[in-house]
Amino acid sequence: MNSLGLRELRHVSLRCSSLDEAEDFYTNAWGLELVERSIDRLWLRGTGPEHHILQFVESDNLGLEHVAFALATPEDVDSAAKHLVNMGVDLISEPHRSDDLGGGYRLTFNDPEGRCIMLAALLEAVAPRSEISNQPIQLSHVVFNTVDINAAVEFWTQVVGLRVSDWSENQMAFLRCNNRHHSVAFNQAEWTSVNHIAYDFRDTDAFFQRLGVLRHLGFVPIWGPGRHGPGNNAFAYFGDPVGYVPEVTTGLIDVEESNWVPRVWQRVPEQSDLWGTAGPPSDDARARMAGSPEPTVRSAGGT
Ligand SMILES: [Fe+2]
Repeated sequence: MNSLGLRELRHVSLRCSSLDEAEDFYTNAWGLELVERSIDRLWLRGTGPEHHILQFVESDNLGLEHVAFALATPEDVDSAAKHLVNMGVDLISEPHRSDDLGGGYRLTFNDPEGRCIMLAALLEAVAPRSEISNQPIQLSHVVFNTVDINAAVEFWTQVVGLRVSDWSENQMAFLRCNNRHHSVAFNQAEWTSVNHIAYDFRDTDAFFQRLGVLRHLGFVPIWGPGRHGPGNNAFAYFGDPVGYVPEVTTGLIDVEESNWVPRVWQRVPEQSDLWGTAGPPSDDARARMAGSPEPTVRSAGGT
């Protein structure tokens, strides 16, 4: 348990200019299922119990609309609101019952770089579809580019209450909100943006089956397949048609809270690519992961 009571990563909401292209890729190629589409939004789910794990909002620019985490109860959302205010954080939206798809009791606030963070309890249930093996189950982690990794880690540990699991030199920090090695990571970069979004697959078979589906449709990894040192997860990164980098992943390790000691991994091939199959990321992969610079002052998003 951390100071705001975050239980797990729920969903991300991203801006894009073409909902048609996003829907086509993320349903037909990526294996998500459309929950609903409105005039300017679409909601997509995995096979797990989360109402939706990915939302797109039609916009002229790319970037994060919000990232949502689960709290256990409405009382926890109210407590989180008090804690945030005591820490000097302005809320974008006070705790409230939402009329949005999925409902729930929510609040939103910004981190110092303008990322909108949603804390939500009591979202509507959906039946898990555990019989489907080669589709994404849930979000594994989101990685953000930050202009100041130390400031980002300080806010997300001291205010949001995540714990540092590992570092990749002083270039990346991997943060957890439960026993999974990381749900959020930060990458030191030239501007604030989304680096990539990773989706959990059941096992290595499901991982390669999804790579097979993607290959059949003409999508080959921009980096991978390989296995990372920090977190020990298998990875394959792709470029989607709307401007983001989704990652197929499986096997992220669990951390035993009582005896885990964060380490600093070196940024050398034998530590960032344990299988030795991926090689270094290409210039294309690096450019896509750099994302589009995002404004650091936001209007109220994702309420
Ligand atoms: Fe990743």
